[in-house]
Amino acid sequence: MKLIAPSILSADFSKLGDEIRSVENAGADWIHVDVMDGHFVPNITMGPIIVKAARGVTSLPLDVHLMIANPDSFISDFAKAGATLISVQVEACGHLNRTIQAIKESDCRAGVVLNPSTPLSSIEWVLEDVDFVLIMSVNPGFSGQAFIPNALSKVRALRTMIQERELSILIEIDGGVNENNIEAISKAGVDAFVAGSAIFGSQNYKKTIDSFRKKIGK
Ligand code: DX5
Ligand code: ZN
Repeated sequence: MKLIAPSILSADFSKLGDEIRSVENAGADWIHVDVMDGHFVPNITMGPIIVKAARGVTSLPLDVHLMIANPDSFISDFAKAGATLISVQVEACGHLNRTIQAIKESDCRAGVVLNPSTPLSSIEWVLEDVDFVLIMSVNPGFSGQAFIPNALSKVRALRTMIQERELSILIEIDGGVNENNIEAISKAGVDAFVAGSAIFGSQNYKKTIDSFRKKIGK
């Protein structure tokens, strides 16, 4: 099953509730929430109060992507605020297995995120424990960046790893996804597609999401 996750980082924050309702009505599957702390990445965005506000206006799963140092300290805050899925950057975790267990104990689905330069081997020993893997196809920090093409080879290699171990883990991609590249990304083996500027920067969210769906199938 293919899932589309608009990133609200590119939404108009002066009317965030309306923006979330609009993408839900346009056919979004998840709402992607980019949390940045100014330490792990050179930008500051939103925290648990935004997740709580989002939870109040949509019943869609909230996909909370933590681009923060020391994520362990904040997992329960995001879970209590209403996160459905929580992913952590492997580069920010000294004890990744423990962090994954903490996400699961908070009743959220657990994901691990790899920066473009981080090898798949970094998750070799936690793959059995996660619900999804997010492959970054830009360096995290900002929306509107260009897709890094070698993310496709990484997705293919990850798909092979998952198949060889007979696991049912979702592969998510994040960064620079648009109407021109989404078909190739899907063919490489991606299940969930984050898109910020390509959706919120478009005139008609439904038209954009419909055209994504035509290219990726069900
Ligand atoms: C980047 C964030 C992304 C970003 C995607 O650090 O993790 O989720 O919002 O934005 P686009 O789709 O515009 O690259
Ligand atoms: Zn993200």
